[in-house]
Amino acid sequence: MKAAHPELPVKKSLAQDLINDANAIFSKTTQYPVLQENAVEVNRLIQRYAVNPLFQDVQEWVIRNNPYRRPLRPQDLKSINFNLTLKKHSALNYSALAAHRMLLNVYENDLVLLPKEDFASKKSDFELFYSNENKLLGEFIRPTLESHVYGFLSSEINVPSQWSVDNLKAYVWELVAQHNQSESVVADAIVASANPRQAAFLFLMQVSSDFLSESSPAARIVLGSYGSMLSEMFKILVDEYGYGVYKTKHSTLFEETMVNCGLLPEVHAYWQFYLSSWLALINYFHYLSRDHSKLFKFIGILFYSEATLGHTCRLWSRMMSSVFGSDFDTIYFDEHTHIDAYHGRMAFDNLLLPAIAKYGQGIIEDIVRGIEEYRLLLEISDNDFIEQLNWSEQADKYKPLAQSIYHKICNQELQFPKQTFAKSAQELSVTRTYDEDQLLVVESGALDILTGYNQFFNLQAKEAVIIPRNRLNGSIVKSEECTYQIYSLGDYKA
Ligand SMILES: [Fe+2]
Ligand SMILES: [Fe+2]
Repeated sequence: MKAAHPELPVKKSLAQDLINDANAIFSKTTQYPVLQENAVEVNRLIQRYAVNPLFQDVQEWVIRNNPYRRPLRPQDLKSINFNLTLKKHSALNYSALAAHRMLLNVYENDLVLLPKEDFASKKSDFELFYSNENKLLGEFIRPTLESHVYGFLSSEINVPSQWSVDNLKAYVWELVAQHNQSESVVADAIVASANPRQAAFLFLMQVSSDFLSESSPAARIVLGSYGSMLSEMFKILVDEYGYGVYKTKHSTLFEETMVNCGLLPEVHAYWQFYLSSWLALINYFHYLSRDHSKLFKFIGILFYSEATLGHTCRLWSRMMSSVFGSDFDTIYFDEHTHIDAYHGRMAFDNLLLPAIAKYGQGIIEDIVRGIEEYRLLLEISDNDFIEQLNWSEQADKYKPLAQSIYHKICNQELQFPKQTFAKSAQELSVTRTYDEDQLLVVESGALDILTGYNQFFNLQAKEAVIIPRNRLNGSIVKSEECTYQIYSLGDYKA
């Protein structure tokens, strides 16, 4: 006989299963090191999290009208040990991209995301994304993933423990003054690139991971009860939300920017083009706002990002006009130029100073640590973007070198570990990075290697290319079938 509630037994067994996992993981204490001792269990839960149908490979580069489809390449996750903590020099390893993709999914379970149209055909995805199983598994794996990608920040950054309010004032306003004198290396690289429009598209895709649901992490900070600071926080948030007027909400202004550039204004349509270092920025806001024991670090980065974004947006606005023409509507950036200096001052005078007065100078170390960690993440993301841009524009230059290395491999002058792949027509390989330089050689058929948005490097049979370490790439078969080999070179320059 059919059960009256067929889903109930599944939920019951899931709950029991997770309780068993929890007992295994938190067997003696809930302190974090226990998670590390139970690495096998956590890695198993990560694989289980990633088998969700929403996270499987897709066969198109752009994911249209579906904020729940977020490919994770689950086939790769078995070989990654997320219990290890990355270092600064390995912060762009492939495991960081995999972890940040998962973390964004976990954090965004708190956000209400709906497709722009045709909800009926997405309803089952909507239910799956917000299902208890997805949420519970996400919470189990979150601390391990966070430690994997952000653990290096505490060892890289030393912050003195003794601060006074006067020291803090001098320190932060000097940082802001320095920033306001600086140029944007990213904007400069876009304007100077061989194809500024393509470069600007790649940039817009990076910031779209945040700007299309702008300020959502800060919305977590207006829940609860902590006196007048909460109301000050709310004032900043309500400005970001256009004072309740949809047309002036900052995310709406950014949607218009995307449309004006011919890009889709849909959340995570360009999921496959996100660089892990740019995901690290938006995830850092979520990381601090999701865990309220990190409140003072969050207030620190809220202040710093508001106080500096005005100048950054002035430079980005100039870049957009330079790339798309002087009559391009730069209102999203101009609005921030205008309001964020004010938000920075509000955050300092009405949040930071009252917080220190009320909760003591002991919180200043956290405030400064948040700012310094965020600044390091910004530096990494700037460099990552510029490296990606250089590779996508210069992949051709690697061709002769790749042919020469391949020639030496054929002559057995060089030997490297290799993997062989056989794929069929139009088969798409979801974007990823490698931790070592790779030599990709097409044995038969034809293959397009994706290096940027709408930027491909075509390989015919017996042609080869180098994919440098940490560079985002994907591929699509351009023949009836394609066989290719990937050799792990280590460092090709060595
Ligand atoms: Fe904003
Ligand atoms: Fe703002």
